Amino acid sequence: MALFRIVYVSEAAGPVASGLMPLVDIIGVSDRNNRRDHLTGVLMRHDGRFLQVLEGARADLDRTLGRVMTDSRHANLTVVLDAPIEQRMFPDWAMARMEATPEVEHFLAQNPDGPDVAAEVDRLLASLVETNVGAQ
Ligand SMILES: Cc1cc2nc3c(=O)[nH]c(=O)nc-3n(C[C@H](O)[C@H](O)[C@H](O)COP(=O)(O)O)c2cc1C
Repeated sequence: MALFRIVYVSEAAGPVASGLMPLVDIIGVSDRNNRRDHLTGVLMRHDGRFLQVLEGARADLDRTLGRVMTDSRHANLTVVLDAPIEQRMFPDWAMARMEATPEVEHFLAQNPDGPDVAAEVDRLLASLVETNVGAQ
């Protein structure tokens, strides 16, 4: 079955911008739903912004993104990558929470519509693979 990867950034709104428990809530629900839907990925928060990577089949991704896009706990969601993939980057994680790498922090600090977005996204994805995802 064809697999796709989506990466988006968004601005956290309300308590989820800095609190731990609201973030844990999101990870809990995501882990449960994403197992059911065979989706995998990671969620990072830094300075009140989210970056999420989601991988899976098209219909499952679209249905989940449809829910996520209308979630009032964040706003200004911008998809910065949506592409077919050969294999999953995070096969073991229905939804892991990880600290942002320096590359992700750098990306979140700038305009997600900038000219070098594709190269930046490649760089930040490489930085995630080097990190021991889900170890925290
Ligand atoms: C930043 C962020 C990331 C989210 N990621 C996911 C996700 O990967 N999977 C998911 O099912 N819901 C995710 N959610 C939650 C959805 O917006 C929604 O609340 C949830 O899917 C509803 O699930 P339920 O119908 O089982 O209650 C996320 C929400 C936010 C704010």
